[in-house]
Amino acid sequence: MTPDAASANQSARAVALRLSAATLAIAIAALGATLTPSRAGAQEATVQRPNVSHQRVVTKPPSEVSWRFTTRNLRQIKLRLRSARCSSRAELILDGRSLERVAVPKGRKTIGVKAFRDPGTHKLQLSVRPGGACRRARVTVYPPQIKEWIPIGAAIWSRHLSADPAFGDLVANEFDFVVPENDMKWAYLQPRRGVFDFTLGDRVVDFARSRGIDVGMGHVLVWHVQNPGWLWQRDPANPDATNPWTREELIEVMREHITTVVRHYRGAVPEWDVVNEAITENGSYRKNIWYRVIGPDYIELAFRFAHQADPDARLYYNDYGTETANNPHSDAVYRLLSELRAKGVPVHGVGFQTHVFPHLTGVPTAEAVSANFRRYADLGLRLQITELDVAIPGSMPKTPAAYEFQAGIYRDVARACQRQPACERFTTWGATDRYSWLTKSAAGLPFDPQLQPKPAWTAILDVLRPRGRP
Ligand code: XIL
Repeated sequence: MTPDAASANQSARAVALRLSAATLAIAIAALGATLTPSRAGAQEATVQRPNVSHQRVVTKPPSEVSWRFTTRNLRQIKLRLRSARCSSRAELILDGRSLERVAVPKGRKTIGVKAFRDPGTHKLQLSVRPGGACRRARVTVYPPQIKEWIPIGAAIWSRHLSADPAFGDLVANEFDFVVPENDMKWAYLQPRRGVFDFTLGDRVVDFARSRGIDVGMGHVLVWHVQNPGWLWQRDPANPDATNPWTREELIEVMREHITTVVRHYRGAVPEWDVVNEAITENGSYRKNIWYRVIGPDYIELAFRFAHQADPDARLYYNDYGTETANNPHSDAVYRLLSELRAKGVPVHGVGFQTHVFPHLTGVPTAEAVSANFRRYADLGLRLQITELDVAIPGSMPKTPAAYEFQAGIYRDVARACQRQPACERFTTWGATDRYSWLTKSAAGLPFDPQLQPKPAWTAILDVLRPRGRP
């Protein structure tokens, strides 16, 4: 306890002795926090590190206490209360929104609430009033325990969930969230012009909900692959099907798709991969249908449409080969994002796919990835590892040494994310080699085909969940 804290503690105790007329007393025991008196008699504790703070007493209405704390990924809040003499009622409020209302019987009570929040500073308030016929209550509030960690997610394909319950169990038990590997791609969501089918995408969301894990990034709104045939042929119902779209028509097609999809998933999908792979490996714009018909401003339009459809969604640009700097692809993506930010386009984050083929792409070291992450974070962007897998080259026998080599790469990428405060999520492109777009023989994922953890999984957990998952 610091000297300041000790004197705050003493004066708080002195106040407590003069309490007889108080209608409600809340005694707060919170070790190691800095206390800042606020106006209406309540006090605020800035929790530097969760679980530490001082003991103090607040008297008189408003019977409220609050804490401020900064987290990267808030996941859970636990608060212990002790209500002496009388029962009381408590309300937990986070960033001005009610999280939970509970009755606190005479005695002890623990409030545990799942609360996923973005990186940033949060204000937690607890308001207490006497319960039932009580006119006075005395409640001791112990310091909040704030749990946070970088969530680890896996891309899943709904068809594997229905066919293979053991796979669903693995994902639900081991991962914090899922992203749709294919089910929210354009070809599935709008197979015919103007006809939307959310069946498969909804399965991914329903799976996450029913198993108590989160949904991460919706994938993907605008890409050059896995689009329905009609996008190239125009509307098959239109006899003049070979005509190219006009710029205005294709903008409208894109707007309608983005708006319908993002609105459908509003509240269920918190962030979107809005534009995927718009830059090629030589650093030029990819000459996809969007670029050819609309021009390079299709990117900016896509972000604006998504933002209009759900102003709360975090919007990402996503690409491969961009996790380290000093190659034409990565540097062109950086320039694109700098320009979009400077223009005020609503792009909030950048996803690094991180498909590692050691023999082709080289091996990204933690230092090189960290240095690259820094320049994106300096643009004010959120960062995510979005599609990590590490192929074991065909020429390399699948020996324990090969799996250790692979684990080393996983470890380095996880470290770079862990070190960078703007890095928010860590996603592997699949969970198990049983279902990997790289094929079983590349053995690129953290669980083997028998659903057993490989050294890569141990490496991820060592870095991102060193104390386990509460
Ligand atoms: C892949 C899926 O994993 C495969 O199942 C599908 O056949 C093709 O697409 N970059 C991306 C992902 O952004 O959408 C791709 O996913 C992998 C490369």
